[in-house]
Amino acid sequence: MFHNGKQFKRITLNIGDQVEFQTSSALLRDTYHSQVIGCNTRLGIVQISFPTSNGKLVLVPVGTNVKLRLAGSNDWLENFTVIDRTNGENRCLVLQIAYSNAAELINYQTYDDLQLLAVTSGKGGVGKTTFTINLAMALSKLGKRVCVLDASLGTANVDVHLGITARYNLAHVIAGQRHLNDILVDSEYGFSVLPGCSGLQRITELSDFEYNYLATEFDQLSERFQILIVDTGAGISRSVTNFVRAAGTGYLIITPEPSSITDAYALLKTLVKEQKSKVNLKLVVNRVYSKSEAVEVAERVQFAAERFLDLELQYVGCILEDRKVRDSIIMQTPVLSLAPYCNASQAFLEIAKELDTDTAAAINPSFNVLSRLWNFVK
Ligand SMILES: Nc1ncnc2c1ncn2[C@@H]1O[C@H](COP(=O)(O)OP(=O)(O)OP(=O)(O)O)[C@@H](O)[C@H]1O
Ligand SMILES: [Mg+2]
Repeated sequence: MFHNGKQFKRITLNIGDQVEFQTSSALLRDTYHSQVIGCNTRLGIVQISFPTSNGKLVLVPVGTNVKLRLAGSNDWLENFTVIDRTNGENRCLVLQIAYSNAAELINYQTYDDLQLLAVTSGKGGVGKTTFTINLAMALSKLGKRVCVLDASLGTANVDVHLGITARYNLAHVIAGQRHLNDILVDSEYGFSVLPGCSGLQRITELSDFEYNYLATEFDQLSERFQILIVDTGAGISRSVTNFVRAAGTGYLIITPEPSSITDAYALLKTLVKEQKSKVNLKLVVNRVYSKSEAVEVAERVQFAAERFLDLELQYVGCILEDRKVRDSIIMQTPVLSLAPYCNASQAFLEIAKELDTDTAAAINPSFNVLSRLWNFVK
């Protein structure tokens, strides 16, 4: 099997399978025998029973590198690390396979196709939520299955913009009170909303059990949707930069106001400083009076980002100052629904089409959404 030019052997592990493994440790040089007792291939995690050698338990330390194969097979799955070791009645080793080998380990599906897009800004109140819901509607009109995650902790207002009331949020899913499917709210505009609220902060504090449970819940998102747009809130707090990095692709919204530009630059600086992976940011200038004004503002930010941060920003369009946007917010309706032919609505459609044709923004194979969020939040 080939993916992104790399060839993968595909190996299926199921609960109960007898496996053998070897370690890179000089102290543990045998081939050890064990049994698969849990497997979450989307997370690249396999739980195996404590191995034995000559009838004795073998204590493999956390952090040991391991390769694993089905008993009797010649195909090794390389690049596992022991990430946990539990004692007691249910003692087991928890192994995680390296990202680069993840596609080799299957029993359901190794990676999902859910595209994550962050919408962010340096300064608050520049039009992120307006952009998020209208982009969501524009992409739905292009036939995409879209979900919006309201992750603007503290200032969550996607529901207010849409006039919907979310009874439950992610906190209820984490507490095991609701399934993810139950908290999703279908808007009238072709896309769904996942209320995040306080639940998102808790992602960092999950126990292994809660994490595994939530990961399975998040798998449902990949089945239902193609695009998850994350409204991240403003500023340089870690919750914002984490979501932007987790998404990989994002929109940075600015207005011509000087403070919006300096705050955007501060956000970019933080992102570059903390960078754990490449961030692909698209620049949108909101509330301008002409396209040439937008180009001028965008060029200033692009110049500073390139010159001082070595960061390339792609300018993808502007949204004119439009009374209809204000009206739409008062009416709690996306402007694309209220006035589909106004300047702002047309701009949202153009930006959605740009995304549709941008293959660089397309998804990379990866573990599931939750693991991506979690890896960046932790
Ligand atoms: N293109 C536009 N034309 C006219 N008014 C606009 C436009 N874009 C945004 N606004 C106004 O700006 C206000 C703030 O927009 P929005 O709530 O989308 O910003 P935000 O960045 O999500 O804010 P916060 O940081 O508080 O979450 C809106 O209430 C609306 O009145
Ligand atoms: Mg907002």
